[in-house]
Amino acid sequence: MKVAIIGTGYVGLPTGIGLAELGNTVVCVDKIAEKVESLSAGRATIYEDGMEELFQKHLKSGALSFTLDMSKAVSGADVVMLAVGTPPHPVTKEADLKYIYAAAEELAAYLDGYTVVATKSTVPVGTGDEVEAIIRKVNPSADFDVVSLPEFLREGFAVHDFFHPDRIVIGADSDKARQVLLKLYAPFEGKTEFLLVNRKSSETIKYASNAFLAMKIHYINEMADFCEKAGADIREVARGMGLDSRIGRKFLNPGPGYGGSCFPKDTNAMAQMGRKYGAHLNLIETTIAKNDERKVNMGKRVIAALNGSRDGRIAIWGLAFKGGTDDCRESPAMEILNEILKHSENVSVYDPKAMENARKLLGNKVVYAPDAYEACRGADVLVILTEWEDFKAADLNRVRSMMKTHKILDLRNMLDAETVKAAGFDYSCIGMK
Ligand code: UDX
Repeated sequence: MKVAIIGTGYVGLPTGIGLAELGNTVVCVDKIAEKVESLSAGRATIYEDGMEELFQKHLKSGALSFTLDMSKAVSGADVVMLAVGTPPHPVTKEADLKYIYAAAEELAAYLDGYTVVATKSTVPVGTGDEVEAIIRKVNPSADFDVVSLPEFLREGFAVHDFFHPDRIVIGADSDKARQVLLKLYAPFEGKTEFLLVNRKSSETIKYASNAFLAMKIHYINEMADFCEKAGADIREVARGMGLDSRIGRKFLNPGPGYGGSCFPKDTNAMAQMGRKYGAHLNLIETTIAKNDERKVNMGKRVIAALNGSRDGRIAIWGLAFKGGTDDCRESPAMEILNEILKHSENVSVYDPKAMENARKLLGNKVVYAPDAYEACRGADVLVILTEWEDFKAADLNRVRSMMKTHKILDLRNMLDAETVKAAGFDYSCIGMK
């Protein structure tokens, strides 16, 4: 099949590469000339584990191509996927749909033959109706259906998740569209659950899932706070809870608060939709407020670890919003750093992948260390903010030799408490005394 993908970000690019691997011809279109140029020349614009090899393979074979020209991508396509950004509106926090609507307006003119227009971006319930109306207005004779095809790819694991989906949700109100998408995703038959639902249910499934996961993280973070006070150990509590198959083990890792380009945006958009429909989503509203509060509190915890010394030196390991990605958007690390920087100017940072992106947000307010050990030079406290596997493997003796005061504040519970203490550190983490 020919598939056009509009938008080459964290959703569009891995999806395009995955669909090329499944045997389709994929043309990705983007508005940013440098991106298209870079991708066409074989330079990936984002980091995703396992992506590079497939990207090069399909670029060379011609199954995957990139263009600025919407007509090239959309003409003759069986499926057009909208994978453009839906950033939160700065004031209302609603998903801003201007890129979706602009793409719908532009693509409409080039539809030829029956085409399924599928929304991959996370969009508020009812957006499919709007997209359909826009296309119909621009091109009244077009033969098309608009479908919601939500995306559940985690950043950093997008390629893995593409090939191992928990479910494929097809939100279509027409049988013809359903058949086209069942054919596109036929390689997954027997390997995963296909959920054929109406368009609005599909749009809701995406938000409801992300908001639930965010709530699950908030819940375990709250339990961690409780454990600290009550003398229990959150690792043991989370293990005990997770073994109940109704609860499940995943997303029970306490931390400095959730972040990233999805959870904060989607919880806010869902809460806003609840307000709009007069169906207040109190659990989600609380999750958002408490998660914001948590990041500020974590910054205060770091400052408290310096015992009031204003010129104490702080080493930070981890800037990305989670391990396995270079993305710093809405990273808890950024918000914690903002709080820290109100009290201290002595901060050096290191992240295995996210230094460049962090620099765009932090500028010259911090020192960028060339490696994890250099970040610790002369430090009074080492703070772990992102769950990178590399940090687990660090040589603690070397870390100790670089630091002035041997204190580690592990806000991701990455390290083994006993090992760190045995190496001569004053160690504290989340959810235990
Ligand atoms: C999320 C969803 O998981 C994915 O299905 C969706 O389509 C896109 O949004 P992503 O934003 O890539 O994916 O990150 P995810 O792995 O879900 O983590 C989000 C945040 O929660 C990160 O800051 C992470 O560190 C935090 N987190 C996650 C925890 O603090 N504890 C956990 O147990 C899990």
